[in-house]
Amino acid sequence: MMRNGVFTFGSLQLKACFDCLFHIMTCPKPKSCRFVVLVSGHGSNLRALHDSMVQGSEMNGSKVNGSVVGVISNRPQSQAMAWAKEQGIETELIDHSLYDSREAFDVELKRAVDAFSPDFVLLAGFMRILTPTFVNAYLGRLINIHPSLLPELPGLHTHKRALEGGFKQHGCTIHFVTPELDHGPTIAQGKVVIKREDSVESLAQRVQNMEHIVYPYVARWLADGLVSFTPDQTVHVKNVTKRLFSEASP
Ligand code: GAR
Repeated sequence: MMRNGVFTFGSLQLKACFDCLFHIMTCPKPKSCRFVVLVSGHGSNLRALHDSMVQGSEMNGSKVNGSVVGVISNRPQSQAMAWAKEQGIETELIDHSLYDSREAFDVELKRAVDAFSPDFVLLAGFMRILTPTFVNAYLGRLINIHPSLLPELPGLHTHKRALEGGFKQHGCTIHFVTPELDHGPTIAQGKVVIKREDSVESLAQRVQNMEHIVYPYVARWLADGLVSFTPDQTVHVKNVTKRLFSEASP
């Protein structure tokens, strides 16, 4: 027998069918969605996300119905943190080098994330492997951007590997995070064609340009409650047919 229920966890509403517990419908309109962004470095994706929420974008239209309520970095020197502070966004530094184990770091990270009561946690250049305990605590609400067309090129140095591997195309993937690194279900991808004259730097720049388009689209879909993720790890985005973006037709 099919049994259904609606659960409210803080500001997040989950409509769950007991027979498919992971079917998640998130962030019903018109409530403004709360995003926490985890960073380690430069922060260009953080900026693109924040901009899409405070001013909208040419590409992506009107403002995304949400805000970056907190930024957490594991690195003290992260430019993303400095920028967030300048914008008046609340920040927290959790320096991973001060923790003896991944588990101990992740306990502290979870405390910091939960303090912001987020609907979604967005990894934007967060260069730490997270423990399954942390990942499972936010399953369906934890999203990553990775600089390759997954399942191709999980891991590091993706631009160099794409060039060395003679790839014809490359790009970025935005996906739900699951315990297996860089393997969670894809929400959207942005594709760039590799040119003969590309260097690691030129390719990285074009991939980042795509990232700054695609991540705000995903933030919009999340904030509008359009994204669901089922137990067989299929992602659905209601009323959206195009989830693969390309340079020519973003
Ligand atoms: C982005 O290109 C992102 O895809 C990548 O780090 C960069 C961060 O740039 N993420 C990963 O490699 C995660 N495995 P940013 O700090 O300018 O947003």
